[in-house]
Amino acid sequence: MHPTSEQLDQVKSIGPATLGELQVWPPVVLAPMAGITNAAFRKLCRRFGAGLYVSEMATARGIVEDWPRSREISHFAPDEDPRSIQLYATDPYWTGRAVEKLVSQSRVDHIDFNFGCPVRKITRKGGGAALPLRRALFREILAEAVRHAGSVPITVKMRLGVDQNLQTFLEAGRIAEGEGVSAIALHARTAAQLYSGKADWARIGELKAAVTSIPVLGNGDIFEAGDALAMIRETGCDGVVIGRGCLGRPWLFRELADLFDGRSPLPVPTLGGVADVMVEHARLLVDLRGEDLAMPEFRKHASWYVLGYAVSPAERQRLCRVQSLQELEDLASGLDPELEVDPNVLKAPRGKAGNPQKVALPEGFLANRDDPMPIGAEPLAAFSGG
Ligand SMILES: Cc1cc2nc3c(=O)[nH]c(=O)nc-3n(C[C@H](O)[C@H](O)[C@H](O)COP(=O)(O)O)c2cc1C
Repeated sequence: MHPTSEQLDQVKSIGPATLGELQVWPPVVLAPMAGITNAAFRKLCRRFGAGLYVSEMATARGIVEDWPRSREISHFAPDEDPRSIQLYATDPYWTGRAVEKLVSQSRVDHIDFNFGCPVRKITRKGGGAALPLRRALFREILAEAVRHAGSVPITVKMRLGVDQNLQTFLEAGRIAEGEGVSAIALHARTAAQLYSGKADWARIGELKAAVTSIPVLGNGDIFEAGDALAMIRETGCDGVVIGRGCLGRPWLFRELADLFDGRSPLPVPTLGGVADVMVEHARLLVDLRGEDLAMPEFRKHASWYVLGYAVSPAERQRLCRVQSLQELEDLASGLDPELEVDPNVLKAPRGKAGNPQKVALPEGFLANRDDPMPIGAEPLAAFSGG
């Protein structure tokens, strides 16, 4: 893809996303994704591009009490810079203590809070995307986070709200701005939509107009580098957050870095290049987790890597069942290196898609929107936080 002259003009006017003292250039963030954005995937993506690469989500209480999964998530490679973590919180007390612990041990350079989780067992207890409805509690959680963060920027990631009729993003955005958070990322879908339909980018523009003193980062349906520029042009947002578009395609961050720097992005790799990256990714994951845990986890990535390439059904099946690194290396070396990607598949849903849902809220939840009491949405040891 060659940038058009309009795109080249546009990038000249785009600066870094400024999150407190952190300057993010290009203004591109790897979205936190449970089960995906571990240290191995972040390292791979960072090798291709630049920007900010957020961890998987850890619960605030898990950080404080040193739960094994939270410890794993908050462990960064010595050379990872900047170190960015996402927390899930429902209680100002655990929030403050978790932020204090992470900051005092110099373990992180950025902390993001997840207020967009649409998962039923979370919203049913008032957490995730439901929590901004309890605006006083939302405010207190953010106040505690900012109070203990020192110079480490705190950001908030949210959805439009619970559903079409319960949209919280404008109110929540203003509250977050008022409490001193450094940026707000908006996934422009409601929790009821899950990943269905199209992200409503116009709402990102509305948030940008309402929140004027801190950056607004847009999120949803960026599958190609040009989509990022389109989102910035259409919404005026200060940066973009990339989730599913980079699954099986970490070179998307190189395309983004090239485009934001005014260069022509390299073409999408042929299958030979894809195979090399796939093996590199698996090796990083094996280094991180050991082969027994890494290879079952890697299978989903293997299927994303070959999406859009005309590999045979038998090859695809073997990749999706791969047992060992050696087997993956053998399979990868047998793929036709010259095969080109079908460009129509770049926008195909990967990771999550699916139908809308009816969001469950605790009984009486809406009657007490100004109640600052924690809702008892017990953080769970593990759940998928999208
Ligand atoms: C597998 C998966 C896991 C996710 N986990 C999280 C999470 O832990 N925290 C979070 O804030 N969002 C999570 N998300 C949502 C993404 O961060 C992002 O908001 C969403 O995918 C929309 O962006 P996209 O259209 O670029 O994918 C997850 C998404 C996927 C696909």
